[in-house]
Amino acid sequence: MPEEKKRKKVTLGTLRRMKRQKEPITWLTCYDYPMAQIMDAAGIDMVLVGDSGAMTVLGHPTTMPQTLEAQLMLTEAVLRGRQYMFVVGDMPYMTYEMSHEKAIENAGKFMAIGCDAIKLEGGARVADTVAAMVKAGLPVMGHIGLTPQSAPALGGYRVQGKTADAAKKLVDDAKALEDAGVWGMLVECVPPETMTLIHEAVDCIVMSLGGGPDADGQLVIVHDMIGYFAAFRPKFVRKYCDLTEILHGAFSQYIEDVKSRDFPQPEHCYTMSPEELDKLGIDAGD
Ligand code: KIV
Repeated sequence: MPEEKKRKKVTLGTLRRMKRQKEPITWLTCYDYPMAQIMDAAGIDMVLVGDSGAMTVLGHPTTMPQTLEAQLMLTEAVLRGRQYMFVVGDMPYMTYEMSHEKAIENAGKFMAIGCDAIKLEGGARVADTVAAMVKAGLPVMGHIGLTPQSAPALGGYRVQGKTADAAKKLVDDAKALEDAGVWGMLVECVPPETMTLIHEAVDCIVMSLGGGPDADGQLVIVHDMIGYFAAFRPKFVRKYCDLTEILHGAFSQYIEDVKSRDFPQPEHCYTMSPEELDKLGIDAGD
């Protein structure tokens, strides 16, 4: 029997080796402890505790209402459930825009609880902030293309980089982030051709969310791929199961079982010894 390879904690070094060896990196969003345990056991390389949790878990219509406190709480839950995965904390809206000092202080809170890196949205416009954070020793990941925190300014949740000019602007954004010192970047919702231009323009790790295959790895919002978010499902998601249907079936069956008194059965009940039952004047039967 070949000896089983000992699994090691995924580090930035691991991710860089995977990029060099052209091994695609698997990345999912994650927002809670049990899900983190399942993903870790399945062998996922990396998780993002996204501010998308504001929508998928907390029920807000956008990511904008997410507070730093709520984001840190979700992140801590995920960190308790992970053993090997690389965990990226996501900086919520207006937690890095005010000043470099505030950005460093807030990013430090994610690192202090055990994140491996932090992500923030924006290209050239946040390059100075990124440079200050990197100078402070923070492992920063960029995020360009469709950046949900600036969706109103982008004209809504739309595909980005669809014209030659827009694609060139994204390449400039990617270069600005790399010059500022990011170790990697997420490119969201662009045509595959734009993704290729970006991937070829920078040396750092480039991850795709709805940007096609030409990247160092893929990210998907977990609720989309497991069918656990009814509001919408983007075109670029492959659905691996329908948790909504599975859970709806389980809850309906539970209602039926309780109403019909089929549940609980004796195997779901605790027992008392015949002696104790006798003291209560209850016949223990056989
Ligand atoms: O919050 C999040 O999950 C994200 C994704 C949209 C990439 O930033």
